Amino acid sequence: MRIAVIGAFGQLGSDLVPLLGERAIPFGHADIEITDPTSITTAFATARPTHVINCAAYNLVDRAEDEPEVAHRVNGLGPSHLANWCAAHEATLLHVSTDYVFGADVTRCTPLDETAPTGPVSVYGASKLAGELAVRSLCPRHFIVRTCGLYGQRAARGKGNFVETMLRLGRERPELRIVANQRCTPTSTVDLAAALASLIETNAFGTYHATNAGNCSWFEFASEIFRLANLAVKVTPSTAAEYAAKARRPDYSVLDCDKLGEVLGRPLPPWQEALARYIAQP
Ligand SMILES: NC(=O)c1ccc[n+]([C@@H]2O[C@H](COP(=O)([O-])OP(=O)(O)OC[C@H]3O[C@@H](n4cnc5c(N)ncnc54)[C@H](OP(=O)(O)O)[C@@H]3O)[C@@H](O)[C@H]2O)c1
Repeated sequence: MRIAVIGAFGQLGSDLVPLLGERAIPFGHADIEITDPTSITTAFATARPTHVINCAAYNLVDRAEDEPEVAHRVNGLGPSHLANWCAAHEATLLHVSTDYVFGADVTRCTPLDETAPTGPVSVYGASKLAGELAVRSLCPRHFIVRTCGLYGQRAARGKGNFVETMLRLGRERPELRIVANQRCTPTSTVDLAAALASLIETNAFGTYHATNAGNCSWFEFASEIFRLANLAVKVTPSTAAEYAAKARRPDYSVLDCDKLGEVLGRPLPPWQEALARYIAQP
């Protein structure tokens, strides 16, 4: 197995590469530009991967509303180029997607399995859905893995994630208002990476949901972050409407991960356990 990891130095990729060990061939953005098929062909001519894991994405959910063409190029067109290369070389493509392909069904209040109708409510979500459709239609040997609310060590030093943002704000402010009317399952990149490393070993191709177990609102998640970090912050529930982010998010995007659990023989750990591990790290 020679596994090319695209987006290898991002939040998820940097936890995945060490788990794959010698099988991993890491590609950062400087090594490969997924929107350019020639860049892919050139990089893979030497690497000759048998498997490709795509962790690269345009992830700026709010900014995507202002630059939809960039989001669609990276999240829609980029995966189509990877899928074409993999199909032509009989390689397996594992593509990482998002719970933001859901959201249009505002009445939803039970976990979404892989057969639930998609319906994104943001440019980012629509661009990621375009990537899924390309991978599914172009590359027979594919895995599409939807996940949610990632947090990992790499972001602690770089772009940030919800946990790091809360830890920073919790040290700066005595009181915070956090959105309580959006429900999902924030997920540790360490746990997701372990699941991806196991899934790629199988030939059980298809679409999967992969998050930590359980679910919470952002208010509940933030409250647990402050409790674990011993930060005495007064947290008050607010609404997504009050927060008024540029991009709309799903009100409810809890993913049913039973299918992955059956294939791997285990579910991912509960979100509380994953968060406690993350907070306890030096
Ligand atoms: N973060 C979340 O909360 C979240 C939630 C659900 C799903 N996901 C999905 O999970 C996957 C991993 O997310 P992440 O948080 O690890 O993302 P990340 O930290 O932003 O890492 C993405 C990596 O991709 C690289 N990249 C961006 N555009 C590229 C391009 N055109 N060609 C090649 N490389 C490119 C980036 O490099 P530069 O930074 O140098 O451009 C970055 O290193 C993505 O598919 C994302 O959509 C993420």
